[in-house]
Amino acid sequence: MEFRHLGRSGLKVSEISYGNWLTHGSQVEEEAAKQCVQAALDEGVTTFDTADVYAGTKAEEVLGRALKGVRRESLEIFTKVYWPTGPGQNDRGLSRKHITESIHGSLRRLQTDYVDLYQAHRFDYETPLEETLKTFDDLVRQGKVLYVGVSEWSADQIAQALKIADEMGFDRIVSSQPQYSMLWRVIEAEVVPLCEREGIGQIVWSPIAQGVLTGKYLPGQQPPEGSRATDPSGSGMIARFMNDDVLSRVQELKPIAAGLGLSMAQLAVAWVLQNPNVSSAIIGASRPEQVRDNVKAAGVKLDAEVLKRIDDVLGSVVERDPGKTASPAKRP
Ligand SMILES: NC(=O)c1ccc[n+]([C@@H]2O[C@H](COP(=O)([O-])OP(=O)(O)OC[C@H]3O[C@@H](n4cnc5c(N)ncnc54)[C@H](OP(=O)(O)O)[C@@H]3O)[C@@H](O)[C@H]2O)c1
Repeated sequence: MEFRHLGRSGLKVSEISYGNWLTHGSQVEEEAAKQCVQAALDEGVTTFDTADVYAGTKAEEVLGRALKGVRRESLEIFTKVYWPTGPGQNDRGLSRKHITESIHGSLRRLQTDYVDLYQAHRFDYETPLEETLKTFDDLVRQGKVLYVGVSEWSADQIAQALKIADEMGFDRIVSSQPQYSMLWRVIEAEVVPLCEREGIGQIVWSPIAQGVLTGKYLPGQQPPEGSRATDPSGSGMIARFMNDDVLSRVQELKPIAAGLGLSMAQLAVAWVLQNPNVSSAIIGASRPEQVRDNVKAAGVKLDAEVLKRIDDVLGSVVERDPGKTASPAKRP
């Protein structure tokens, strides 16, 4: 495994991290979840990403159990807050009340005294930014949270937060967690340039576009049995890539991967890691073999000619609109 700094912070993270959205506590049984975590640890992954909302809070519990007994200092555990975790009007968003209650729940479920990174899962238009940032800062001072980050915030929103943090002396955001893959490049125009200037690292999600970039979904055919596209909780988000234009172009990436001696998943993960502003690629997996396959992308270098061939194959199906980085106008 290779390691990178999380933005300009002193924290080092494994350049491939393991995330448990849709899998732990939901799509896969506990034993498979534990095997995936063990495979990640065996391959040198030290960074694990989850969220309070995943599987209605069960994902954090599963991860907490799977990591039990591992030396805490050898791990970087990341979680998030914003999406609803209960039925109440305050069980969501980034108010002082919800953040404070949510971190306590996360620490209990993860069986740890602190998380290494606490992320605002989306921007909350209903809470003053000062209130959110002050609460995060308090958690840092209490030692419950070591670093603070955001997810799917636009460049403007990140810039506003940095300004307030600098004026008020609050802890600064060190990371941004956006969707990023060969197919989804919406951060490149605005978020990445700002973050490069400000020392913020990207921890990117769905680097293989939820499985699409493995090439296992064939145009004009039903998705393979047991894959995410057939899972009721996962099929909604993957739907944007499940059309014949995208799926046929992805098939054309196969000779490029084969020519480099890489699997398709490794090519996809290696692709996001070529961006120097990326601190880590968060991979998901429903089985341990996938973890073992995908982590081999660590340290792989792709030259300019390969990157151009990928761009030529994917052409107009690549999404680049920075406006696609968005948070709900009202709390869900
Ligand atoms: N901040 C956010 O808003 C946000 C949103 C989404 C995700 N995330 C984070 O990012 C993490 C990763 O997201 P993701 O799971 O969508 O990432 P991903 O790595 O793009 O997709 C993972 C899925 O692809 C399939 N897959 C993986 N490797 C494969 C292989 N070698 N061969 C065939 N299929 C393979 C598996 O699904 P099947 O086997 O079921 O097909 C696996 O669960 C999440 O766990 C979470 O921590 C964050």
